[in-house]
Amino acid sequence: MPYFDHSATTPIDPDVLNLLQKVQTEEFGNPSSTHAYGRKARHRIETARKQMAAAIGASSLEIIFTGGGSESNNLVLWNRLYSSKKHVITTAIEHPAILTTLKHLKNFGIRVTVLPVDRRGRVSPEEVARAIESDTGLITIMMANNEIGTIQPLREIGALAKENGILFHSDAVQVPGKQPIRVADLNVDMMSFSAHKFYGPKGVGALYIRQGVKLNPLIIGGGQERRLRAGTENVPGIAALGLAAEKAARGHSDHLSDLETQFRTLLTETIPGIKFNGDPDHHLPGLVSLTVPNPTSDILLIQLDLQELAVSSGSACSSGAVKPSHVLQAIGLSAAANQRTLRISFGKDNTFDEVSLLAHAIGQLCAGNLAN
Ligand SMILES: Cc1ncc(COP(=O)(O)O)c(C=O)c1O
Repeated sequence: MPYFDHSATTPIDPDVLNLLQKVQTEEFGNPSSTHAYGRKARHRIETARKQMAAAIGASSLEIIFTGGGSESNNLVLWNRLYSSKKHVITTAIEHPAILTTLKHLKNFGIRVTVLPVDRRGRVSPEEVARAIESDTGLITIMMANNEIGTIQPLREIGALAKENGILFHSDAVQVPGKQPIRVADLNVDMMSFSAHKFYGPKGVGALYIRQGVKLNPLIIGGGQERRLRAGTENVPGIAALGLAAEKAARGHSDHLSDLETQFRTLLTETIPGIKFNGDPDHHLPGLVSLTVPNPTSDILLIQLDLQELAVSSGSACSSGAVKPSHVLQAIGLSAAANQRTLRISFGKDNTFDEVSLLAHAIGQLCAGNLAN
């Protein structure tokens, strides 16, 4: 069944799966043990740390492993409670792991400025500059959006943060494999990652923490992950994340761009009135958000599913329910247009034939040819 929902999650890469299984079955030692089993497991973790660091141009001292993108984001945000600088700046199109967490943090005295984005989903560095207050301690702005693919001007925002002595965090969960990441060029202090978005397993992630940035743990107990994340490490998952990160750093962006171009061309030819959302100039390759004149996305999803074609409406990250997307709302789509929007996210193994099949199927459905 052709799969076009890679922004929700990716299938695990076969080499990554082999490594995961090998470590799970043969290398089961506790990495804190001093005997040979333990040392082997420790070696796996430290190799993965080097691989993840190399993939983003960081030092391995700057990587810790977490339980995924949501946890990495939470670790950064809850740390505001330890600081006297209680004001946080973010955008209206962040993932719920940022926006909902910040909502909770308001109960603990954290103040939040949520910046709007333009019709393409970009936040302006000038708006960020205007939002800075004397007690702003953190700016958190995602590198690329999971619903419309818009890439934010991190370098400029990071420079602003640096000038003003403010920590800068970015949720880069959607980026590995699609766009190179060099943390030093982006002026970020912290960056969140999740293995299942780049052909690794679910439930394991990483957080880049620039040397010199001090954090407190969310999960307290043993001293694992430099005292930042207690609990016996998920060694198979971490080893798998490392290999997945190394492979993702080689990138698939050309293939994804080619698939996307073919798809957009076919749809533009066959569906009068189709609109593409996002920023054509600053865009994750392979992610297409489209609004059709008819029918609604719930009907499209069911019809495509009947044809064994897996796509998503808006964001499929959380509940599985089709509800209006806050991202589409923030870029100015009406409630009605919101309900006629689909997200297609291609992956490294999609083929041009699959893209044609999908474009043809969507074209037919939009022309009113529905199955009963
Ligand atoms: C941008 C973004 N941030 C965070 C997450 C959460 O990551 P995880 O599923 O690893 O918790 C996701 C997807 O689920 C995402 O797309």
